[in-house]
Amino acid sequence: MKLLVTGGAGYIGSVVSARLVEAGHEVVVLDDLSTGHDDAVPAGARFVRGTLRGSASEVLDGAGFDAVLHFAAKSLVGESVADPAKYWDGNVGESLALFDAMRRAGVGRIVFSSTAATYGEPESTPILETDPTRPTNPYGATKLAIDTILTEYARLYGFGAVSLRYFNVAGAYGAQGERHTVETHLIPNVLKVALGEKDAVNVFGTDYPTPDGTCVRDYVHVVDLARAHLLALDDTEAGAHRIYNLGSGSGYSVNEVVEVCRAVTGHPIPAEYGDRRAGDPAVLVASSEKINGALGWKPERDLNQMVADAWAFARR
Ligand code: UFG
Repeated sequence: MKLLVTGGAGYIGSVVSARLVEAGHEVVVLDDLSTGHDDAVPAGARFVRGTLRGSASEVLDGAGFDAVLHFAAKSLVGESVADPAKYWDGNVGESLALFDAMRRAGVGRIVFSSTAATYGEPESTPILETDPTRPTNPYGATKLAIDTILTEYARLYGFGAVSLRYFNVAGAYGAQGERHTVETHLIPNVLKVALGEKDAVNVFGTDYPTPDGTCVRDYVHVVDLARAHLLALDDTEAGAHRIYNLGSGSGYSVNEVVEVCRAVTGHPIPAEYGDRRAGDPAVLVASSEKINGALGWKPERDLNQMVADAWAFARR
């Protein structure tokens, strides 16, 4: 297939692009490099630097694309609270421009990167796709708005859309991994301590209602996530919008993640215990029964593998 990957210079988009190229697809990456890196775009994919508003039409028009994988987004929860307008415009505004360009070009198949943040604080775990969506920050609210637009565009314009709601993505794929300018995620921050770039890891909150008092999250290897995107592409059906959670069904606490990082790196990784970080739910664990039943997807790589691959990437 001929595929447009928006945000294909970012962490997840670049790994999925690499796997798509390896599967024999023709891949064009559109990315404005606001947070991505052009050297993350895999060899074998064509790279166009631009925003969705500025360049999506030009790239899609008359070029015979079969589908779009839409990763391009602002994705920092904290920043979204500090500057919500940046998120409404950067996520919803830019996505609308992409969807308009798709309609004009007659491309209706899309796989969209949604998030666990659309659910907000869950009433029960594991979270099901039918659970209430009450995002607790603008980041989650903008992603939920895009999901709503896709539901409408499937009904009104015959889009065939699949939204994948990621839980905590980790790991790396060879030379492709997480390298954010501002790193907020747990595993890369813990590994910075093992690399000697930081003295200690800050653990945010020890008084959560969890077995050891630290937050519990559901971690998924980025390569397993990529496989879900390939399956989702084949699942797109004109007029339908399907939503699937991507998690493992089980969670690890912050303390447990730090312990795995110690075992993998052989570094003592000192921890400093501090206050809660604003907006963090105690437990986020996904039920992935739906995508398992529909597409046969289930995660194959465990937390050890995620940390080992992230560690190999961090040392490059
Ligand atoms: N944490 C620390 N210390 C750190 C970094 C994180 O203790 O230095 C804790 C956090 O408080 C949280 C857990 O580790 O309890 C995981 O934090 P991350 O920042 O790695 O991930 P989040 O669960 O906050 O975020 C992920 C995605 C977001 C998404 C969110 C909700 O990265 O995009 O899940 O679904 F919005």
